[in-house]
Amino acid sequence: MATIRAKITGVGAFVPEYILNNQELSKMVDTSDEWIMTRIGIKERRILKGEGKGSSYLGEKAVTQLLKKTGTLPEEVDVLLCATVTPDVKFPATANIISDKVGIKNAFGYDINAGCSSFLFALSTGAKYIQSGQYKKVVIVGAEKMSSIVDYTNRNVCPIFGDGAVAVLLEPTMEDVGIVDEILHTDGFGRKYLHQVAGGSIKSASHETVDAKEHYIFQDGKTVFKYAVSDMADVSVEMMKKHNLSKSDLNWFVPHQANMRIIEAVAKRMCIDKEQVMINIQKYGNTTSATIPLCLYDWEKMLKKGDNLILSTFGAGFTWGAIYLKWAYDGNNI
Ligand code: UT7
Repeated sequence: MATIRAKITGVGAFVPEYILNNQELSKMVDTSDEWIMTRIGIKERRILKGEGKGSSYLGEKAVTQLLKKTGTLPEEVDVLLCATVTPDVKFPATANIISDKVGIKNAFGYDINAGCSSFLFALSTGAKYIQSGQYKKVVIVGAEKMSSIVDYTNRNVCPIFGDGAVAVLLEPTMEDVGIVDEILHTDGFGRKYLHQVAGGSIKSASHETVDAKEHYIFQDGKTVFKYAVSDMADVSVEMMKKHNLSKSDLNWFVPHQANMRIIEAVAKRMCIDKEQVMINIQKYGNTTSATIPLCLYDWEKMLKKGDNLILSTFGAGFTWGAIYLKWAYDGNNI
């Protein structure tokens, strides 16, 4: 019996208008465009301004555009999963809030938090719903207001992150396209190197935790960097070997956009050219759950049916992994 695969049939995105560039950042902390460009590779990032706007504001816009682009009615959606580390509130899930705002009424949904790997893990979960045969339209949206947990007085962290949201639609196919394979990992030993200290059930919010800035991102950058390079490279090379993909078979490598030096080091380990790698970190910074689909959105017009893509990620947890997929449509027809 032929197996059902999940294929991506569209991408919708939204980034806020406000651009925080390195010049402006240099007035906020002791840094420079030169340092940020050579050590991280980010020129600017988008920041969501305005009272009462959270990740669902971004997610709603991305999903609305996705439904319009794919000619999908909100009531046709079966499942909506929101990949995020910056939910609007702890509960209910931001997936529910986005669904309500968009008019998705016949679906169930929930949030997935696997740090910066949230989108890939959500894509894996969504694909399983499609492969089961029970669900026909699954929306995966990565939505992040990272600026809500960034300390803009901490130069070790504030240049890195940006806000944005991207949504993809998954549908079933019997053709030789779609999600082919995945290799996903979690190792909790890494949890202390990248986390938010307070605001959870161990240390709930108090005046003291706010004064100590414990609701902001804590990162031991050097350690995270080391594991990001080795784990993303290992898993991406493993995926290529597993599917006998040579350098010329791989059309696109789509890495999580955390640091240009991480991306370059991983591409080197994979023995692929920089031209095969989707890189837009300079424009948006690290948008956590939105980085990988934001690349797909920016490159959509260049993608062709049957293109071989490896998506690769690393994030808090630690979590990491790779997904191999064959692109399902010609992007220049969109
Ligand atoms: O999304 C997944 C998770 N995140 C990541 O993958 C991030 C991984 N880590 C990194 O990208 C890098 O480690 C950082 C960008 C965070 C830091 O770069 P680094 O090359 O590892 O710098 P460092 O932390 O070793 O700092 C080197 C120097 C220090 O000065 P001293 O002690 O040598 O005098 C820092 O104080 O650079 C200084 N520094 C800065 N200088 C100017 C740190 N941040 C800045 C800054 N501007 N923004």
